[in-house]
Amino acid sequence: MGFKEELNRRKTFGIISHPDAGKTTLTEKLLLFGGAIQIAGAVKSNKIKKSATSDFMEIERQRGISVATSVMAFEYRGLKINILDTPGHQDFAEDTYRTLTAVDSVIVVIDVAKGVETQTEKLVEVCRMRNTPIIVFINKLDREGLDGFDLLDEVEQKLGLKVRPLSWPVGMGQRFQGVYSMYEKKLVLFRPHSKQDSDEKIEITDLNSPELEKHVGERAAQELREEVTVIEEVYPAFSREAYLNGELSPVFFGSAVNNFGVRELLDCFVDIAPTPLPRITEERPVHPDEDKFSGFVFKIHANMDPNHRDRIAFLRVCSGTFQRNTNYLHVRQGKQMKFSNPTSFMADKKTVVDEAYPGDVVGLYDSGNFKIGDSVTEGEVLHFKGIPSFSPEQFRYVNNKNPMKAKQFNKGLEQLMDEGVAQLFTREINQRKIVGTVGALQFDVIQYRMEHEYGAACDYEPVNFYKACWVSCDDKKLWKNSKNAANATSRTISMEISSSWLKAPGRYKWRRKTTRRCSFI
Ligand code: G4P
Repeated sequence: MGFKEELNRRKTFGIISHPDAGKTTLTEKLLLFGGAIQIAGAVKSNKIKKSATSDFMEIERQRGISVATSVMAFEYRGLKINILDTPGHQDFAEDTYRTLTAVDSVIVVIDVAKGVETQTEKLVEVCRMRNTPIIVFINKLDREGLDGFDLLDEVEQKLGLKVRPLSWPVGMGQRFQGVYSMYEKKLVLFRPHSKQDSDEKIEITDLNSPELEKHVGERAAQELREEVTVIEEVYPAFSREAYLNGELSPVFFGSAVNNFGVRELLDCFVDIAPTPLPRITEERPVHPDEDKFSGFVFKIHANMDPNHRDRIAFLRVCSGTFQRNTNYLHVRQGKQMKFSNPTSFMADKKTVVDEAYPGDVVGLYDSGNFKIGDSVTEGEVLHFKGIPSFSPEQFRYVNNKNPMKAKQFNKGLEQLMDEGVAQLFTREINQRKIVGTVGALQFDVIQYRMEHEYGAACDYEPVNFYKACWVSCDDKKLWKNSKNAANATSRTISMEISSSWLKAPGRYKWRRKTTRRCSFI
């Protein structure tokens, strides 16, 4: 197969949801359809359960799982579909945001009983900002939930999405009989605990046909007719172009655990979802069909095996063909590197890949060379844009508990920061280190991993800051005065940033052109 064919048969997407809405279950069912796994239960949830706040072994276990399920690929109708997993836990939202830079579209899973939840709102906002095409899957129709129209209103209001149902439920909970697919003009009947394959679809091109009564009964048939009429009148007609521009989101209903409505979702997804999209760099847009290879690292997973200090950098291929054992430029370090064991992951299997195409994600074994956002190319200097680094909201002094382990302590902190777990600041006046995180759970993760992976025990001390932000000023005198004033009031305390990503040459050069300090408030 030639490069163009390989490129055009790839669809790379992420599934996002509030924890427990059914993301893992849906992923698993999609993989089952694709034949990538044979049995249910092969994909473990990578979610860190609420109880895990104090259960570090659980965090560790989950970390192991999450790398295995980071990227899952399967073949369906001649296409290669890459699912990028996103942690549902809100304290790891940063990881999810970064993963969203590596996908070309998303499926949002919503629990029919709970409606739109907070985590989903935040994640969809990020997708909207990037105009990422979104499909909505309303899950758990086998349970009683909110009325379909109320849910659509909620999706429109809370998620700011313009929606267009492409399937519609016939009843719900105890009365749930199936869905009518407006996309395929077919009635799909729900048989709990059956395998639900495509043979159970009944073609009903005309909803007024008495066939409908025969299958779902008089009352449900009448209700469905009325509801579909309302949909046709109220919601815009589906347009693939509007979907691809991120302006219209098709909505599907189903029950992932019963494997119901999933095939309809998948069939529509493969028809409409985008093939790999161009990516923006500081220098120029990069188109997937360019000859030369380029890609960026959006996730780093460290120390999977505690006996070897190996890390895996996940690289999204953006253009050209990535080849094993070929010299590529690590742009930030300005050095040539080649990768002898680029890896793809699938449930609990690892495979060495010889070639990867735009849309694919390869795991690169790394001994500390990569940071999130790094570009790898065939020689051109490119800096991919849009990989977010979030302003931390929680801060603590971090102390090395054992002065004999200073080297391990510094190395551990540095590597965890490279992974994007948190950001590290050094206080100007006393050189003390402050860790800034987005979620509280990261503090526990850092403490645990520092001790178990680097042999450096650490503890925290509270510090009374709630925000770190950039302050800049072109007027040096004004800057000096305001800095002194800030220090005097001690409400705003200027600090030198020692966070390693800021030291990255090239990417953040512009910051040094003006006098800038990171201030804590
Ligand atoms: P997440 O990754 O979004 O966090 O959700 P996950 O798939 O783990 O699903 C959360 C729970 O919801 C699971 O139950 C799962 O079985 C259930 N679930 C998923 N889809 C449906 C559905 O269509 N209908 C119903 N009724 N339940 C569904 P659990 O009890 O937490 O876990 P498990 O013991 O079943 O694995």
